[in-house]
Amino acid sequence: MTHSSGTDVREYKAVLGHFCTGVTVVTSIDRGTPAGFTCQSFSALSLDPPLVLVCVRKESATWPGIRRSGRFAVSVLAAGQQAVGDRFARSGVDRFAGVDWRPSPAGMPFIDGALAWVECSVSEEIDAGDHTVVVAAVTALEAGTARDPLLFYRGRYLEHEPREAVTR
Ligand SMILES: Cc1cc2nc3c(=O)[nH]c(=O)nc-3n(C[C@H](O)[C@H](O)[C@H](O)COP(=O)(O)O)c2cc1C
Repeated sequence: MTHSSGTDVREYKAVLGHFCTGVTVVTSIDRGTPAGFTCQSFSALSLDPPLVLVCVRKESATWPGIRRSGRFAVSVLAAGQQAVGDRFARSGVDRFAGVDWRPSPAGMPFIDGALAWVECSVSEEIDAGDHTVVVAAVTALEAGTARDPLLFYRGRYLEHEPREAVTR
């Protein structure tokens, strides 16, 4: 039996991990240098005005630089981009090494091969426990050729082979 007051970390992760999500990489240019991190907690938020949200760990070393720029891009990873998801969650490495990207209209890194890209500007940060809920206004949107998504479920990537690109 799970009790709201006595929820431990393992139980929280085990139960909440049943909510399957896509995987994104949140990127920006921090004082001239590309920066980014893997982010699962991306969501569409509002249509009018167009807003999205991401939840960022307060201990993130990358977020302060992204915050400073005030803008970021979200690249929605495709099946087969697990290595990119892994790379942007690793510390002590050049996360952009070997990763191709192109600039969004405002110059934010859009990662090649992703399913879709959203460029946005930070509009609000809401304090929430050990995370910050970041609300951002959408400034540009783009979808690539429809393919399978990279999925994260119960603490791991779901393995499946990407299908051939299909036309919509
Ligand atoms: C699949 C996956 C999803 C993640 N989702 C988030 C997230 O939603 N928010 C977050 O702050 N960190 C998330 N992380 C962790 C960050 O990618 C990781 O903490 C970060 O890269 C650590 O480096 P940093 O200190 O530069 O942020 C996720 C990691 C993985 C592998």
